[in-house]
Amino acid sequence: MAASPPDHKFHRRRKPMSIGIIGAGNIGAAFARALARAGIHAAISNSRGPETLAALAAELQPFVTATTVEAAAKADIVLVAVPWSKLPQALSGLPDWHSRIVIDANNPIEAPLFKPAALGGRLSSAIFSEFVPGARVVKAFNHLQPHLLSGNPAAEGGKRVLFYSGDDASAKARIGALIERLGFFGIDLGPLALGGSLVQFPGGPLPALNLVKFG
Ligand SMILES: NC(=O)c1ccc[n+]([C@@H]2O[C@H](COP(=O)([O-])OP(=O)(O)OC[C@H]3O[C@@H](n4cnc5c(N)ncnc54)[C@H](OP(=O)(O)O)[C@@H]3O)[C@@H](O)[C@H]2O)c1
Repeated sequence: MAASPPDHKFHRRRKPMSIGIIGAGNIGAAFARALARAGIHAAISNSRGPETLAALAAELQPFVTATTVEAAAKADIVLVAVPWSKLPQALSGLPDWHSRIVIDANNPIEAPLFKPAALGGRLSSAIFSEFVPGARVVKAFNHLQPHLLSGNPAAEGGKRVLFYSGDDASAKARIGALIERLGFFGIDLGPLALGGSLVQFPGGPLPALNLVKFG
């Protein structure tokens, strides 16, 4: 009897997911540095155009390239790190999200006044989700200072902790895996309604805590 053909389902290598970054300031650049440190490719954008990101791209080559917001928004995973008041402008007029994963790294407060934005009692992640209709939103990378995000996650002898939350299990699993690959210890805080409130800044109990998992 002829041998049955191999089951390619188990042999095919999964295509790596592309990563785009909208916002190249403190947090966008810190995330890009964390990716480059782990040898992961990404494309980063800002409001002024890729030519203004030449120095960052040169620092992080060959892993991070500069691009436009429109191109960054087409990636499989898109991290958004833009001042709260600029989000509607940054995220308007982009192609359909089509269930792609969007990481909300934003907090509803901004320099120089650090006056909390008026959210009408809602979570910032719920409002953010309305700016990216059809996307699978995962809240992550919003609770640490930039130097802790870009620095060595093992610097204190354990693994620095990053929190993540979201309503789509597979999107959350992807971001959890990315966090682990970056060398952090990821903690799944559950759905956005729960995790978003724990990491909400200001208001939640977790932002700015630099926690390290030992053992
Ligand atoms: N800084 C922190 O410690 C920290 C920690 C956690 C979370 N966060 C959150 O992360 C987000 C970003 O903070 P940040 O400190 O990284 O801000 P930032 O240093 O001021 O950088 C903001 C970035 O957003 C870009 N941007 C502004 N308007 C845009 C638009 N319309 N289209 C595309 N890009 C636009 C800017 O591009 P241009 O320079 O070209 O205008 C810049 O690259 C905020 O929501 C903040 O609350 C910050």
